[in-house]
Amino acid sequence: MLRGQAETLVGRAREREVGRQLLDAAFAGTPQVLILQGEMGIGKSRVARSISEAGRHRGAVVLWGAGQEDLSLPYLPITTALATIAPDGGLTSLSGPLGLDETGGGAEEDPAHLWRRAEQALLDVLGDKPVVLVIDDLQWADPASQSLLLHLLVLLDHASAARRIRVLTVLTVRTPVDDERVARTVARLEREPSTITLTLEGL
Ligand SMILES: Nc1ncnc2c1ncn2[C@@H]1O[C@H](COP(=O)(O)OP(=O)(O)OP(=O)(O)O)[C@@H](O)[C@H]1O
Ligand SMILES: [Mg+2]
Repeated sequence: MLRGQAETLVGRAREREVGRQLLDAAFAGTPQVLILQGEMGIGKSRVARSISEAGRHRGAVVLWGAGQEDLSLPYLPITTALATIAPDGGLTSLSGPLGLDETGGGAEEDPAHLWRRAEQALLDVLGDKPVVLVIDDLQWADPASQSLLLHLLVLLDHASAARRIRVLTVLTVRTPVDDERVARTVARLEREPSTITLTLEGL
């Protein structure tokens, strides 16, 4: 496929419009969560990329991590996402303060300690900056990542009562969800009023 073709987004007007509205709300200071679900190859990652690029054009920092099939390194999707900001000169690396690297190194430490540092590092780095956090292929995220993600999203929600937290989190999930743990994580997220789920249909 030619590069130009790969970059063109066909259709998905509804998804783009929802993405735009969620970016508006997130930029205004209320954290938002968007779950994009659908079958293999339907276009979830492509839509996530389109929305995150729209956010980037509006000045957001994009953090991108992904679950990996048959690879369950603790915290991999989260640490990968947080490490994305390392090359951004204006921002402190989160992976540094977390003591984690992209291989999940350091993840053996006491999870409670690690989580506290993850919270603080995330809040510090966020500051007032708009962020689009994408976790692609949540169905392959290790259990530790799922728990930490839930925890961080609830934390951001609470923190937004006291200060401006400008984050849109986009999660993609391949359906049907076979993994019970992933199904529970998705169900938990969907109970939050700030979560919207879009099911992608064929183009
Ligand atoms: N709206 C679109 N316009 C143009 N190309 C698209 C569109 N949606 C998907 N594609 C292309 O189709 C292919 C599959 O899309 P994508 O990888 O986003 O699917 P997916 O749902 O994330 O799949 P998986 O379940 O394997 O993660 C990619 O090459 C992508 O660039
Ligand atoms: Mg995908």
